[in-house]
Amino acid sequence: KKIVYSGIQPSGQLTIGNYIGALRNFMGLQDDYLCLYCIADLHAITVAQVPKDLRKNTLDLIALYLACGLDPEKSIIYIQSHVPAHTELAWVLNTMTGLGQLQRMTQFKSKSQKVKEVQAGLLNYPVLMAADILLYQTSYVPVGEDQRQHLEITRDIAQRFNHRYSETFTVPEILPAKVGGRIMSLQDPTSKMSKSDANKDGFILIIEDENQTRKKIKKAVTDSLGTFRYCDEQKGLKNLIDIYASFSNLKAEEIVEKYKDQGYGVFKDELAELVVDSLRPIRQRFKDIREDKSYLEKVYKEGAEKASYLANKTLRKVYKKVGFIER
Ligand code: TYM
Repeated sequence: KKIVYSGIQPSGQLTIGNYIGALRNFMGLQDDYLCLYCIADLHAITVAQVPKDLRKNTLDLIALYLACGLDPEKSIIYIQSHVPAHTELAWVLNTMTGLGQLQRMTQFKSKSQKVKEVQAGLLNYPVLMAADILLYQTSYVPVGEDQRQHLEITRDIAQRFNHRYSETFTVPEILPAKVGGRIMSLQDPTSKMSKSDANKDGFILIIEDENQTRKKIKKAVTDSLGTFRYCDEQKGLKNLIDIYASFSNLKAEEIVEKYKDQGYGVFKDELAELVVDSLRPIRQRFKDIREDKSYLEKVYKEGAEKASYLANKTLRKVYKKVGFIER
């Protein structure tokens, strides 16, 4: 079976952007591929973290993976820091990655503007992500559009290594979401939906109160044109149509056809119900799973064991090729 790999940072509560752009697509891949889904805690410390929150968020994310329908019998679910091979391979890859290329990463540029002192870890973030992916001979990486550049650098690094030594890494491809690869803020449709948005009405959390979700959708920014179209001049509406499309089986054109003779109000009401109905089973399961600490522990311990086995096979090859003596 070909390998699918993805990860999510446990850096707070996830939004429906994370869900639509990535997480939602993880489940359907489990039968056709060997899937590895990690909780990227090593990445989460590249911006200042509160230790107790990180612990909580990590367990929350495992519970959420399971509540969404990831099956630990089929897929490998694990915590990144439990598999030391990630940092070990990242070191080797760091010695083969240009400083200039890392400095040009758009996510690095925007994140480094927000901090007083830029740490080396933030710069090296994409190299660690490359290590994550390359350790498992991954073919496909399901992620949102904001990770596309990180996938490109991963491919570059893989090709450089293969060329300099010999075929070692599978060169992975991005597996973008069919719709909703970039969900925008409900309050400012020119910026990405993000949990770090100061305006809490800008994002919907996967786990939150239903009435909160409804309220945020009703408050979502649209426009004063009043026409129901799917176009770049009506970014707010376009984003809501994308959200509708991803929670239904309808295409954007079909949604436009359905609502074109009604106001935005009716559309928003029905969108709110669609989102709330779609998330309800996840929200219900999450509570029970999150409370079952021993089950969560079993899942991540078994996951780490399976992941380590695969990761170490690649790491051994890499160490040999660069000239390290076997122990
Ligand atoms: P992270 O934790 O920021 O986001 C997790 C996933 O959610 C997607 N995403 C979005 N998709 C659509 N619209 C949005 N507004 C939106 N916001 C976030 C992201 O594209 C991502 O797929 N570096 C990664 C984590 C990672 C990883 C990996 C991913 C670590 N190692 C290896 C893949 C493979 C990250 O920070 O994602």
